[in-house]
Amino acid sequence: MAGKRVVITGATNGIGLAAARELAARGADLAIVARSHGRGAAAAADIGAHSEGRPVDVLLADLASQASIRELADEILQRYPSVDVLINNAGAMYSTRTLSVDGMELTWAVNHLAPFLLTSLLLERLKQSAPARIITTSSGAHYRAQIPFDDLRADRSYGRMGYARYGETKLANILFTAELARRLAGTGVTANCFHPGFVGTGFNTNNGVLMRIGMWIAHRFARRPEQGADTLVWLADSAEVSEVSGAYFFDRRQVRPSQAARDPDAAARLWSISEEQTSQTNAAVTSAPPPPRKLAN
Ligand SMILES: NC(=O)c1ccc[n+]([C@@H]2O[C@H](COP(=O)([O-])OP(=O)(O)OC[C@H]3O[C@@H](n4cnc5c(N)ncnc54)[C@H](OP(=O)(O)O)[C@@H]3O)[C@@H](O)[C@H]2O)c1
Repeated sequence: MAGKRVVITGATNGIGLAAARELAARGADLAIVARSHGRGAAAAADIGAHSEGRPVDVLLADLASQASIRELADEILQRYPSVDVLINNAGAMYSTRTLSVDGMELTWAVNHLAPFLLTSLLLERLKQSAPARIITTSSGAHYRAQIPFDDLRADRSYGRMGYARYGETKLANILFTAELARRLAGTGVTANCFHPGFVGTGFNTNNGVLMRIGMWIAHRFARRPEQGADTLVWLADSAEVSEVSGAYFFDRRQVRPSQAARDPDAAARLWSISEEQTSQTNAAVTSAPPPPRKLAN
């Protein structure tokens, strides 16, 4: 990773922080995205202890806000002549349905629209930096989900504790990755996603005292953040996956996601809806041919 510019979201805690430490130790130049100055500075100091003196940049952005993501992308484009690896890792689950400042359901905004918009805005720079990689942290929680195309703001279908909604956004990560990879074919930029396993992090500790206690107990059975970050670091660094794109991984193995995640029509439909929801036309990748009717599996 020596000399590679890596931009990573959600590196102030958990899986992203563990991945950033390891990538820094391997020589990457890290830019971490944080929504709080204090948490960003603390994470940068922690990661910096592994980076042999190379500075760790902190970029402030709230990924729930599209205006903030646009400012973030502008800053990245101004500061970094190349972006070799973009890691869309930040994510959350919300037990109560809330709308973002843009009027989107919050889980959808942070977990799906933020990766979609940030990646779209950085796509030209990534292509200029090829070979480059885009990695998105998905989840096995996608397995029972379907994209509710008739209820995208989850007005009717939020479900108990937000878990069903969370699964939909993680399914969206996989569909996004598949369609992105298809559109990026031949550019030297790959797009992959992965499931980190059940990892003891800050995840789901934002949903009240009872849930915090539940997660504290569950963490006895969870992986350590370093284990959860292992496949992420491998996807960023390994020569084994330099030519692989559009795939879903678990424990460094390419695995088959759910049937809903392998539907190219749904992936194409989600892409155009996401463009509308972010007012973002992907001129860099819209010239791709239409999707095949069905994937092989
Ligand atoms: N833990 C698991 O078992 C598990 C399993 C499958 C998938 N995942 C996925 O793994 C990824 C990382 O989660 P984690 O487990 O490491 O959880 P975590 O410890 O809660 O870390 C989440 C990270 O996302 C950031 N974040 C959340 N909302 C944000 C926003 N609006 N703007 C900017 N940053 C925001 C957090 O920043 P703050 O520090 O400011 O809160 C934090 O750095 C997520 O995508 C999650 O869905 C986790």
